[in-house]
Amino acid sequence: MNIQAIKGVKDILPGEVEVWQYIENKARSVFETYGFSEIRAPIFEYTELFSRSIGETTDIVEKEMYTFEDTTGKKITLRPEGTAPVVRAYIEHQLYNKAHITKLYYFGPMFRHERPQAGRYRQGYQIGAEVFGIDSPILDAEILSILNNLMEAIDVKGLDLQINSLGCKECRPKYKEALKQFLKDKLPLLCENCQRRMDRNPLRVLDCKGKTCKDAVKDAPIILDYLCDGCKKHFDKVKETLKILNVSYTLNPRLVRGLDYYTKTTFELVSTNLGAQNAVAAGGRYDGLVEELGGPKTPGIGFAIGIERLASLMEKDNFKTNKPDVFIATLGDKAKDISVSLIDSLREKGIKAETDYEDASLKSQMRKADKLGARYVLIIGEDEIKRGSALLRDMEKKTQDSLSIDALVHALSAKLAVS
Ligand code: HAM
Repeated sequence: MNIQAIKGVKDILPGEVEVWQYIENKARSVFETYGFSEIRAPIFEYTELFSRSIGETTDIVEKEMYTFEDTTGKKITLRPEGTAPVVRAYIEHQLYNKAHITKLYYFGPMFRHERPQAGRYRQGYQIGAEVFGIDSPILDAEILSILNNLMEAIDVKGLDLQINSLGCKECRPKYKEALKQFLKDKLPLLCENCQRRMDRNPLRVLDCKGKTCKDAVKDAPIILDYLCDGCKKHFDKVKETLKILNVSYTLNPRLVRGLDYYTKTTFELVSTNLGAQNAVAAGGRYDGLVEELGGPKTPGIGFAIGIERLASLMEKDNFKTNKPDVFIATLGDKAKDISVSLIDSLREKGIKAETDYEDASLKSQMRKADKLGARYVLIIGEDEIKRGSALLRDMEKKTQDSLSIDALVHALSAKLAVS
């Protein structure tokens, strides 16, 4: 059997890649307006980075990481998410000494050994953003506003921004205790996984997709009732600033995230047009993570967008594939020789020129030009060379012009500038 791609991964082919490029370009432009710089972190790291930051009792760390030993016996993991590597780089390069606020963005693949389904891949691409150094709730609202503006710039509709606060290390333990007490009676109803994790990490039960677990937590206490004064004030200010920034949101007090590093504001941007995997983007504050990973006490906040999910919400037909401006059709060896340097000059001017490298008939070359979607076809034959000219066929208007070969590059540039 022919070798095929691994289950749960996806080739992004021409025709679809234009949508991805569009999203990436828009994201880059929005991030740069907000003062972010790009960071490119490696796609593999020591396993410990992820187990310590994402949390030992999360699905990602327990069962979804691609982990292997390198030849020295060190445990290495293909990154399942982008925040931990960026925090590692932030600490390793002491970026905290360079500026009081550090704003970073990244694009790239993340690897999770999940059960593949629509919108869920084993190599999924994310666009992420992380900000370090500021704990103001105004920044939380601004982060959400960036996400909102990016979705508007890309023109994606049907999105609901859900927000919650997960408290801090002062108030969350109290909530965890209350939740544990509540879940004690429900223990037989919970799935095996939740029963096992309930003691160490009862919040995971709120995130379980199993029907019985979902039913069991219906009347569970909500964290918003347990927030300390500081967290409550912070969250109130986030909501107030979102109003000022015209960012609409839904309060979802049951929103917990599948990663343990979050504190205070957390959020998910969900789509009404996706199936079970409906989160297009997600993120939140992680004020303890830099310190937890050995850096100075530094607040952090960020989000990541799933590119596959976002791209699936966009109309593919609106995107142009890469088509040549001009296709050069030649008849005879001499014409071919002329075309070689001509194409070179055209490309030097930024004109997308293609040709047929074989000795095909004019009819066949015209067919190829048409298939490629060339805007113009330049026909060079023996007679044309004698006259020092070439025929330029406008494939849209179906008209034809004779042009001097010497002035061709200039004439074509001018035509393309107005067309
Ligand atoms: P996450 O919720 O695990 O958060 O992933 C963020 C987004 O990536 C999801 O909302 C979803 O759109 C997409 N995604 C996740 N897993 C898959 C998958 N298997 N296949 C396709 N898409 C997927 C994080 O990764 C955090 N690092 C976000 C963050 C950044 N928090 C703070 N800063």
